[in-house]
Amino acid sequence: MTDPLAAWRRLAGSAVLLDGFHALKHAVRFGAEVPVAVTADRGAALALADELAPDVRPALEELLSEVPEATYASLVPRPHPTAVAALAVRPSREAQLSALARMPRPAPVVVLDNPRNLGNAGAVIRLAAGFGATGVVTTGTLDPWHPTVVRGGAGLHFATAVERLDVAELPPGPVFALDPEGEDLRGVKLPDDAVLAFGSERSGLSPALRARADQLLALPMRPQVSSYNLATSVAMTLYHWSATGTGGAPR
Ligand SMILES: C[S@@+](CC[C@H](N)C(=O)[O-])C[C@H]1O[C@@H](n2cnc3c(N)ncnc32)[C@H](O)[C@@H]1O
Repeated sequence: MTDPLAAWRRLAGSAVLLDGFHALKHAVRFGAEVPVAVTADRGAALALADELAPDVRPALEELLSEVPEATYASLVPRPHPTAVAALAVRPSREAQLSALARMPRPAPVVVLDNPRNLGNAGAVIRLAAGFGATGVVTTGTLDPWHPTVVRGGAGLHFATAVERLDVAELPPGPVFALDPEGEDLRGVKLPDDAVLAFGSERSGLSPALRARADQLLALPMRPQVSSYNLATSVAMTLYHWSATGTGGAPR
């Protein structure tokens, strides 16, 4: 068996950190390539698998190497209560672009236009995975595979396509941009091939995204309230798509 620490050191610069049992569970469940996984307590980790994820227990049993607690703690920014960490291979940009561009598209693509908050981006990827969205695209400088985003996404980056693109490179499909000045979303049925775009926490939709939008849509909101949080706006919009069509998570 290869030395897990040697493998960790070799891969740490380029791989995706899966921090905690749940991130590892999701990544394995959705087909991530996980070359190394460590835990400070193999018995406890496998007991969690028995309780919460029997479907991936055999894979985790094979993957998980026990290391001393101090060694585990030295590999992660902050020890996780489950004392589990792993490294996964980041999917290639080509694979992500091909998943995002594939037509016919069974579920929308979510676009975050120049998001600033890593926690919001992680929460949106988790939402996209839960609703079975085709993917999440970010524009601007934020890396949607940043360790803090992966932590917020609970390992669900592997359940949907995630990539950074320029506005000019957005996947095909009608672009619905969410903005409080738009038409009331409640009167609109969102198609499965929709590209659903959301603005930045600080300044809303960029001029480039506004110019690309086929329609501006508003979430219902009292006039005295300026806007909703970015991730909650995505949640409401994906819920509206799933509730008014045939797509989304199984009923
Ligand atoms: C925190 S808001 C941006 C607020 C920003 N200060 C602005 O000037 O628009 C982030 C994004 O969430 C979406 N959003 C928030 N509230 C919304 C609403 N009532 N209707 C439609 N979209 C909304 C929009 O896409 C918005 O750009």
